[in-house]
Amino acid sequence: MFRGAPLFFRETEADLIRVGKLLREGELVALPTETVYGLAADALNENAVRRVFSVKGRPFLDPLIVHLAAAEAVEVLAEVPPALERLAERFWPGPLTVVLRKKAVVPDLVTAGGGTVAVRVPAHRLMRRVIELSGCFLAAPSANPFGYVSPTRAEHVRESFGEKVPWILDGGECEHGLESAIVWLADGAKRARLLRSGPISSEEIEAAIGHRLVSGDAGNAEKTGAQPAPGMLSRHYSPFTPIVLREAGAKPTLRVGGGRQAVVWLRRPQVAMAGVEEFWLSENGDLREAGRNVFALARRLDAGGFAVMHWELAPGTGIGVAINDRLRRAAARA
Ligand code: TXA
Ligand code: MG
Repeated sequence: MFRGAPLFFRETEADLIRVGKLLREGELVALPTETVYGLAADALNENAVRRVFSVKGRPFLDPLIVHLAAAEAVEVLAEVPPALERLAERFWPGPLTVVLRKKAVVPDLVTAGGGTVAVRVPAHRLMRRVIELSGCFLAAPSANPFGYVSPTRAEHVRESFGEKVPWILDGGECEHGLESAIVWLADGAKRARLLRSGPISSEEIEAAIGHRLVSGDAGNAEKTGAQPAPGMLSRHYSPFTPIVLREAGAKPTLRVGGGRQAVVWLRRPQVAMAGVEEFWLSENGDLREAGRNVFALARRLDAGGFAVMHWELAPGTGIGVAINDRLRRAAARA
């Protein structure tokens, strides 16, 4: 067993081969994806999967996403509905997860005992190479302690877990910085629903499947007994520092006294505010850039000794929907 600070692997082929071997042998490795870093394990190895839950402090009722190198491999794990073809063609590899009827080969632990499994084909070059080299399907939740802010850099994983996660593949900063969109597709295209917003908008998903998504974030709890999606947990992605939200474009309502206050804007403000420290997600208010930075800034400010942080919500369109979803959950106190 490894002891001490975690070991960072780099993108050399020799390192990727070592990472693949560790995973094949049932070890856990934190890996970069284009969304956030994941804590990966061989999805068909129950002992390895059990350790993922224990390291994260994650309840067993919250199922994991299984990552594959190619869409063709889905049929090993799940029943493939016709609508998946259109989605896969359009969005895979990429930040879309689909929930399908599972096959018996998938351990109950991965699916929280439910009859469905969440799968995705990630786009990150290193992640894809590691899946190939390991020869495994990789179960990988975001590599953060359960309920805390997701990691978008290798360093975030080390800060959160220390030696509890001994191996980290450093792939730099994640491209999207927000977790994949999750679509429930276990009852056919007409009953498709969005369980979690993400870098791909619901309009784009609807265009690809040729149907409106059923609204509401209900999900599959009643059908499978499993946790339907992080959407069901109002508090999630949460820093320890209290967060106060305000609508896009609005000024913050500052507190009187009581410690340092951070004010976060979508774009660099024109005029400085007195008595606070100001931060912005994007120089020009670009929503993709804002999405990429939101978790990293939340972590940085959480470590900054502020009494409160005031965050500006994004306009509620495109990727702004996913940004606001994460901010609202981060701000929820229960
Ligand atoms: O972008 C992502 O999706 C990242 C990267 C690492 O791939 N992964 C990620 O995993 O965000 P996680 O575990 O933090 O969030 C996945 C969520 C779970 O919380 C769970 O609620 C939902 O997906 N989920 C997994 N399996 C499901 C299922 N069978 N039915 C409904 N929801 C499911
Ligand atoms: Mg997560």
